[in-house]
Amino acid sequence: MNILILGSGGREHTLAWKILQSPRCKELFISPGNGGTEKIATNLKIDINDFRAIKEIIINNKIKMIVIGPEEPLVNGLADYLKNESMFSDLIIIGPDKNGALLEGSKSYSKEFLKKYDIPTADYFTVDNCNISEGYKFLDKMKKPYVLKADGLAAGKGVLIINDLEEAKIQLKEMIINNKFGKASRKVVIEEFLSGIELSCFVLTDGESYKILPMAKDYKRIGEGDTGLNTGGMGAVSPVPFVDSKFLNKIKTKIISPTLSGLKEEKVEYRGFIFIGLIKVKEEPFVIEYNVRMGDPETEVVFPRIKGDIVEIFEATHNQNLDKVNFEIDRRHAATIMLVSGGYPEIYKKGFEIEISEDIDKSMIFHAGTKISNSGKLVTNGGRVISVTSLAETYNEAIKRSYHTIKKIKFEKMYYRKDIGFDL
Ligand code: AMP
Ligand code: GLY
Repeated sequence: MNILILGSGGREHTLAWKILQSPRCKELFISPGNGGTEKIATNLKIDINDFRAIKEIIINNKIKMIVIGPEEPLVNGLADYLKNESMFSDLIIIGPDKNGALLEGSKSYSKEFLKKYDIPTADYFTVDNCNISEGYKFLDKMKKPYVLKADGLAAGKGVLIINDLEEAKIQLKEMIINNKFGKASRKVVIEEFLSGIELSCFVLTDGESYKILPMAKDYKRIGEGDTGLNTGGMGAVSPVPFVDSKFLNKIKTKIISPTLSGLKEEKVEYRGFIFIGLIKVKEEPFVIEYNVRMGDPETEVVFPRIKGDIVEIFEATHNQNLDKVNFEIDRRHAATIMLVSGGYPEIYKKGFEIEISEDIDKSMIFHAGTKISNSGKLVTNGGRVISVTSLAETYNEAIKRSYHTIKKIKFEKMYYRKDIGFDL
């Protein structure tokens, strides 16, 4: 069958790499894709929120399966839009409808959901311009640091963690009254701060049954020792050494099961990925956030460890017989290191030529912000540029391999963290 992946990051390049291993995939299209996907499939340049253009791509290229990578089109209702077209009645869509995507699209909704289904999460209070003084009172009762979250999508920037009470009140007002994050922060969730170690849990569900994919841990801050500004992610490892069978069992019974039964209870038909951001506090898992897609760069370590035919797995997701497919997980460790443009996540330049040595054999190279220039050269085209993944018997060895491979990649002002996995 012909398949379309929507998105342009390392996540989408990895998905493309995995899908191309399936004999069920005839032709693969990626919209808009990047310099890496262009080498292995057909890139079609569009805006991922232009639903009409997506519809045309599906018709013109006889697409039978669409895998929606990023959250924005899901939150904007792309799956619903496609399902409303009778000619797409057999189209396989990997990604939830708008009501399911609310788990990521609205922090206040997801907190209400967590509370309603008794799923462990930080204590919280939702504020808008009608009850801002109650918000200040809630902050008065909290201990520092103070966590403020914009309700809507804010390109990963909508969470503030503030040490000073007065500053937290000022920022609360900035968010709600002065639209610090635009429409996204008209409502704000104030949360209790949880102290622990974070991990990313991935579930693929057909709405009835589910598969837990390999756990991963990403490194979000730009600086070594997890310091400095938040980024989309500077590296990741999988599996996560501190998830033993006892802790995994808690994740299943206290988090995943009630999440899926809650969705059923809410009459949300969910076929796609749920990425549960967790924090381990003492020995207990708490939900930090839900995402309705795979993580990036977690995909770059999770998918290389999945041994099954991903197209078959997606078909089963659509047909609601995911419980009938079995696939193995590679027991080796995966590590990925993200190479970024100097200056990211703030101001950086694009368009630098990228040199990749031909003799890379111990790692996989997944492109993120790259493109092929008009003159046919591979150049940087974003903050996060290339993710270098390696598999090995131990995570130390996997990390070492990726760092070794990085020496074979060059572009001007290239930066990467040299301490991925430092805390494990
Ligand atoms: P989110 O977008 O909700 O994942 O938040 C971004 C980051 O802020 C998370 O990855 C955590 O590192 C941090 N964070 C969010 N909520 C909390 C919380 N309640 N306690 C501690 N850290 C948090
Ligand atoms: N790596 C975190 C995310 O994809 O949101």
